Amino acid sequence: MARVAVLPGDGVGKEVTREAARVLRAVRPELELVEWPHGAHRFLESGETITDAELGELSSSYDAILLGALGDPRVPGNEHARQILLGMRFKLDLFINFRPVRLLHERLCPLKGKTVEDLDFVIFRENTEGVYVGMGGTFKQGTPDEVAVQEDMNTRKGVERIIRAAFDYARAHGHSRVTLSDKANAMEFAGGLWRRVFAEVAREYPEIEREALYVDMLAMDLVRRPERYQVIVTGNLFGDILSDLGAALVGGLGLTASGNIHPGRVSLFEPVHGSAPDIAGQDTANPLAAILTAALMLRHLGDDDSAARIEAAVQAAVLAGETTSDLGGTLGTVAAGEAVLRRLG
Ligand code: NAD
Ligand code: IPM
Ligand code: MN
Repeated sequence: MARVAVLPGDGVGKEVTREAARVLRAVRPELELVEWPHGAHRFLESGETITDAELGELSSSYDAILLGALGDPRVPGNEHARQILLGMRFKLDLFINFRPVRLLHERLCPLKGKTVEDLDFVIFRENTEGVYVGMGGTFKQGTPDEVAVQEDMNTRKGVERIIRAAFDYARAHGHSRVTLSDKANAMEFAGGLWRRVFAEVAREYPEIEREALYVDMLAMDLVRRPERYQVIVTGNLFGDILSDLGAALVGGLGLTASGNIHPGRVSLFEPVHGSAPDIAGQDTANPLAAILTAALMLRHLGDDDSAARIEAAVQAAVLAGETTSDLGGTLGTVAAGEAVLRRLG
C-alpha cells in the first residue's frame, strides 16, 4: 500500500486536484491519500509555509506527493509558493523536472498539418539550481540608483546528473537523439560547463546522437518542426519557459503533467500549469493535466497498468469532446473529471 501527500494548494489547484484524487480513488482504492493544507490561505492566517520537520515527514513517511498549484493574488510577492514549492524541490533534492509533451489528438495542435506522431517529446528540466536558487540581492532599493543581482548557479554535479538522467531515459525508451538547450553564446560560463559535461556524458551513450542548440533557436524550431525532438535537457529557467511552449503545442496547460523526481526518494507530481486566478472558483479549469499527473505518479510508483488505464480514459474523453472549454468542450471541471471516471472501465 502506498501513502500519498496531497497538497491541492491555491486557486484552480484545489479544483483540479479534487478530480485527480477521485480518479486515484477509483483505480487504486487502497491508496492512502492524506490532504495537506499548505497554501496561501494558511500562510495568510498563520504565516506558515512548510517547515523542515514537515519536509522530513514527507521523505520518511510518504511514497509520493501530489500537488495542485501554488500562487494567489493576495500574496503578490509569491513568497509562500516559493517557500513551499521551491522548498520541496530544493530541500528534497528533486533534481529532475520531467515534463512530457504529447499530442492526444490532431485537432488540439495549433500547428498546421502536424499529427500525433509529430508531437511527442520530453523535457528534462534541471530543478535545483540555475537562477532559481535565490542568490543575489538588491542595493539602493527604491532609489534611482537601484541595483538588482540574480545569480545563475550551476554546479558540475548538478549539471551532470540531469544530463545523465536525460541520456538514461533516452536509452531506456529507444530514442536516438538528446538535445541540450542553453544560451552558451551569451552566457559563456554556465553554457561552457553545460556543453563540456554534455559532450563528456554523451560519450557513454554512443548509440545516441547529441546536439546542442541555443534556446532561442529551439523555441522557434519547436514550432517549425517539433517532430525532430525526442528528449530535451536544459536548465531551470529555460525548462520552465519551454514547458509552457510545449503545452501550447499540444492543447494548452490544461493537458500537461510533470514530475519533480529524485530516483529512489519521495517525489512530487504536479500539473505544469499554475493556480490560474483568472478562472479560479468558476468550475471551468481543465482537470486533465492534474489527472494525467496522477497517472505519471502511479507510473513512477511502479503501477504502469493503472497509469495506462487513466491515460486511455483521458484520451477517450478528449476524443469524445467531453472536455472543458479550453479544449472546445462545454463541461465544467467536475463534469470533465466525471467524463474520465466513467471511462475507467
Ligand atoms: P497559470 O498556469 O496559472 O495560467 C496561465 C493561463 O492558462 C491562464 O489564462 C489560465 O486561465 C490558463 N490555465 C491554467 N491552468 C488551466 C487549466 N487547468 N484549465 C484551463 N486553463 C488553465 O500561469 P500564471 O497566470 O502565470 O500564474 C498564476 C499563478 O500560478 C502565479 O501565482 C504563478 O506563480 C503560479 N504558478 C504556480 C505553478 C505551480 O504551482 N506549479 C505553476 C505556474 C504558475
Ligand atoms: C512551474 C512554475 C514555477 C516555476 C513557479 C511557480 C515558481 O512556473 O512549475 O512551471 O517557475 O518552476
Ligand atoms: Mn512554469
